[in-house]
Amino acid sequence: MTKKKIWSMALALMLTLSFMGCGKEAEPAKEDGILLGVSQIGSESAWRIGNTRDIEEQADRYGINLMMENANQKQENQIAAIRRFIAYKVDVIAFSPIVEEGWDNVLKEAKDAGIPVILVDRDINTAKEGLTTCLIGADFYKEGVMAAEYLIRKADALEMDHVNIVEIAGTENSTPMRQRQAGFYDTIANDPRMTVLESIDGDFLKSRGAECMRYFLETYGDQIDAVYSHNDEMTLGALPEIEKAEFVPGQDIIIISIDGGQEAINVLKEGKINCVVECTPKLGSALMETVLKLKNGEAVDALIHPEEEVFSDEMDTSTIAPRGY
Ligand code: AHR
Repeated sequence: MTKKKIWSMALALMLTLSFMGCGKEAEPAKEDGILLGVSQIGSESAWRIGNTRDIEEQADRYGINLMMENANQKQENQIAAIRRFIAYKVDVIAFSPIVEEGWDNVLKEAKDAGIPVILVDRDINTAKEGLTTCLIGADFYKEGVMAAEYLIRKADALEMDHVNIVEIAGTENSTPMRQRQAGFYDTIANDPRMTVLESIDGDFLKSRGAECMRYFLETYGDQIDAVYSHNDEMTLGALPEIEKAEFVPGQDIIIISIDGGQEAINVLKEGKINCVVECTPKLGSALMETVLKLKNGEAVDALIHPEEEVFSDEMDTSTIAPRGY
């Protein structure tokens, strides 16, 4: 038995035992093949759960042994997971960094160990070169642009002379939060009707979406014309608060969300959300292709963005195919 097979079997046993404690099942290690360590952020949204499932399914399809660890929303857990992957001598490491800063030391350790690192979904901010091989994830800036373009079209259609916006932002210092905000702000900057009343960190969580919305309604009441929410989870948390305050979401207040999970699309079809910008969690296949290329010593693209679209009340929403997350 090779050293890698022994590591693989030992790790499978350890992960099974540790995941039994936190309700997550480990992928069984396969006899041969490539060993991929993946540090996932957590389970904060339907998007994230769909992303985890897709990575697991695609690893299986490509015959790649997967060691997936759930960091439960903590950067220190992600750093510890990457260190374990290095100790286990995996072939490739992939991770979705919860925030952009703070990875230099652990990534230098991976580099020194000769293990290539792929960024999935989110980016890092570092002055150091060559710590990661590539990024496979959405163009979050473009998502922000598309959200703002929708709002401008909607304001035109409703002949609004001003639009007061409240923003429920994603996790502070994360790539989607920064870029979805930048794309949106850059685009509305050209339209004098648009004012952002306030932006609050909703951490991509449904419960925080509700809290933020309660605060906005208490503070700004009927001044609010539009909600720009950085993900479906927070939007779904905000909507009941809007209804409790006796406003009709989608009519009294324009609702714009990002992700495009099934639950949000159902609510779009009901008319309570006006626009959902797609962010696909289906990154698994591109990840496995990249892992194979790295293992074969082939060049990989530095940046892979999936194609994404906009779903809104401007279209026939009955044509939207089932989302799968
Ligand atoms: O990084 C992608 C974002 O993270 C998704 O929009 C959100 O739902 C998830 O939690």
